[in-house]
Amino acid sequence: MKRKLISALLCGAMAATMLAGCGSSSSDSSSTADSGSATTSESGTTADSGSTGGATGTGKIGISMPTQSLERWNRDGSYLDEQFQAAGYETIVTYSDNDSSRQVNDIQNMLAEDVDLLIVAAIDGEALNTAMNEAADAGVSVIAYDRLILNDAVSYYVSFDNYSVGTLQGQYIVDALDLENAGDKTYNIELTAGDPADNNAPYFFNGAMDVLQPYIDAGTLVVPSGQTDFDTVATAQWSTDTALERAQNILGSYYADGTQLDAWLCSNDSTALGVSQALTSDYAGSNTVIVTGQDGDEANLKNIVDGIQSMTVYKNVSDEAVATLALSEAILNGETIDASMADNLGVECSYDDTSYETSDGNPCPSFLLVPTVITADNLQDLVDTGLYTMGDDGYLSAVQ
Ligand code: GAL
Repeated sequence: MKRKLISALLCGAMAATMLAGCGSSSSDSSSTADSGSATTSESGTTADSGSTGGATGTGKIGISMPTQSLERWNRDGSYLDEQFQAAGYETIVTYSDNDSSRQVNDIQNMLAEDVDLLIVAAIDGEALNTAMNEAADAGVSVIAYDRLILNDAVSYYVSFDNYSVGTLQGQYIVDALDLENAGDKTYNIELTAGDPADNNAPYFFNGAMDVLQPYIDAGTLVVPSGQTDFDTVATAQWSTDTALERAQNILGSYYADGTQLDAWLCSNDSTALGVSQALTSDYAGSNTVIVTGQDGDEANLKNIVDGIQSMTVYKNVSDEAVATLALSEAILNGETIDASMADNLGVECSYDDTSYETSDGNPCPSFLLVPTVITADNLQDLVDTGLYTMGDDGYLSAVQ
């Protein structure tokens, strides 16, 4: 598999600096739980940190993650922590419990601890100005991680191609329902998007809608609830419970009479989980409803095995950490960073210096990794990454 090969090559090429990286066993965690004070623990470059004699990085890295309540950020936080420590850096990792003011506080604490670089996955892309301005004043570079921050203090953006996450979801529905050959047949669909505070959420939704809208316009796809605009279908904090409640309301209002529902677009796995629960408990029909997702969360992978969710768009967040580490080293070493850097980050990614703006007219140089579609038919691809194992029951577990 190409991705596996790239990761293997990277492990070889960067062996001097990343002996304990690339999906190896976890090091002592310096992460703090969501509960408790914003104070972070720190790990230095001692033997405990997992660094080796070959690790060459020097400096302190602040890693600010949004929450531990959504599965993927736990994986991001620990991959980043492990990989930076293995490369010789000190790390401070915080999770801010989906609370923006707490994230500002956490970043301010990192600046007070003299971090050399900040890696931030924002809870709210518009709510970090105070901390970002302080980072700029302190001359600390900021990498917006996965989610863009709308502040010009951000130097670079590392993420996946968010728009194509959405197009993959939309295209999956088109193909699964064979809408190209629908003729006069019509299909019913409902839509659930992500958190409006998350800069990614509209990208996912717009990507999907750009694929689905022509079929809605042609009358092949019908949205019985009539709820199609982003603000109406958005889900604050990507909450499973909020998605569940809205899905129950829609099923009760528009499908209780036996109307068949064919597909439910969900922008990610946490929302898909809520929608799937509602379909299991509140949908009167007997057909299998196509449900999309994103992330490869364990509960959703189980639902895919059980036929309750149809697909997830998988984003290898270990690769995202690999790219972030390589970019960070280039920044800290004062290297020139341009389009050619996309070939040096150790994972397949593209350089984009037009699509993502931190303010009007200020595009942020972005490195965008490639998402893939996972269904019941290619779960083995996840096992092949080395980041998941498959139990005897066929269910997958993420390797911690
Ligand atoms: C997005 C992220 C997705 C998903 C979602 C909820 O910003 O790109 O992968 O995890 O947040 O956490």
